[in-house]
Amino acid sequence: MKHPLKRVATATAVVSLVLAAAACGKAGSSSSSSSSPAASGAGGTAAAGSATGSIGLLLPENTTTRYEQFDKPYFEAKVKELAPNVEVKYANAGGSPQTQAQQATTMINSGVKVLVVDAQDSAQIKSSVEAAKAKGIKVVAYDRLAQGPVDAYVSFDNVKVGHLQGTGLLSVLGSKATPSAKIVEIDGDSADPNAADFKSGFQSAVKGHVDIAYDASGLWKPDVAAQKATAAINQLGASNISGFYSANDGMAAGIATSMKNAGLSKLPLTGQDAQLDAIQRIVAGTQSFTIYKAYKPEADAAAEIAVNLLTGAPITSIATATKVNGSGNTVSSDLLTPVLVNVSNIKSTVVADGLYTVAQICTPDFAAACKTAGLS
Ligand code: GAL
Repeated sequence: MKHPLKRVATATAVVSLVLAAAACGKAGSSSSSSSSPAASGAGGTAAAGSATGSIGLLLPENTTTRYEQFDKPYFEAKVKELAPNVEVKYANAGGSPQTQAQQATTMINSGVKVLVVDAQDSAQIKSSVEAAKAKGIKVVAYDRLAQGPVDAYVSFDNVKVGHLQGTGLLSVLGSKATPSAKIVEIDGDSADPNAADFKSGFQSAVKGHVDIAYDASGLWKPDVAAQKATAAINQLGASNISGFYSANDGMAAGIATSMKNAGLSKLPLTGQDAQLDAIQRIVAGTQSFTIYKAYKPEADAAAEIAVNLLTGAPITSIATATKVNGSGNTVSSDLLTPVLVNVSNIKSTVVADGLYTVAQICTPDFAAACKTAGLS
């Protein structure tokens, strides 16, 4: 699978190339194909450049920092670049599937032409997807695969995310990875199909290598995850535990507190999302690693697909894979590649991509740890 940044460049080049060819009457007119969409006139394709109307963006919750910090602004910026006259209408469900259903209805009635939805509950959103389709509105599933007749899906290879978490945990454990080594596993919310993919990838990597002695859902909530971790510590006995699996960084923050209270801060702890607080825990040694899913390529791909669906342009050069959702629909998909981030590659990943500066990571509380880690 191509690295996301390369793949987006290719897709954009193809779209611009098709247009350039149409404009100039000959294929491969390289000048426009090699430059970014903006270079070939406002917003990539002529159709996109003059397109009007609105795209609805529905995000699931705002406890996890990614949505408002990265997904929303990157998506809005890309739509603006591709289709400056197209409005993005935004709503966050705050963790409530009922609220998200209402938000979808409001957007459908307000006349959006495309709905981009990151479902709080992939089964419950199905009726909203069907209602949108019934009105001729295109639907893109973003990051989490909604049920129903969605037109396209953009996310990461989420089984690979889990597998990286598993192989990462085994390598941190080293010789301590034995079939009797007790691991506490805190999964995501089962209403989110990604949680099952992370879990199956993780378990396939660690099966036979360690003992999953405790397994529960933290519902993507830091406080719930902390409670579950404390319950596991009380049940298994602190000294009998070898490590903790957290499906994401948000929950890892809560689990790290429970570990600290039990004197277990130095045990391995996994994560996902490359949140700033997680990067700081990695530098300080109270989290082993996180899984970085570069947000910009994901949001860019979703914006391009949404704009292409709005203008009637093809999406096949972007959504080159397929995935079957929980209602049995086979969906054209763009699945990007995740990367494990530990103390050795913070600079070449999240800093290089402009997510955080070294100064943002190495605040006074972490200055000494950053120095030791050679992060400057
Ligand atoms: C998942 C998403 C993760 C995560 C979680 C909590 O679907 O892929 O990045 O943080 O939801 O919102």
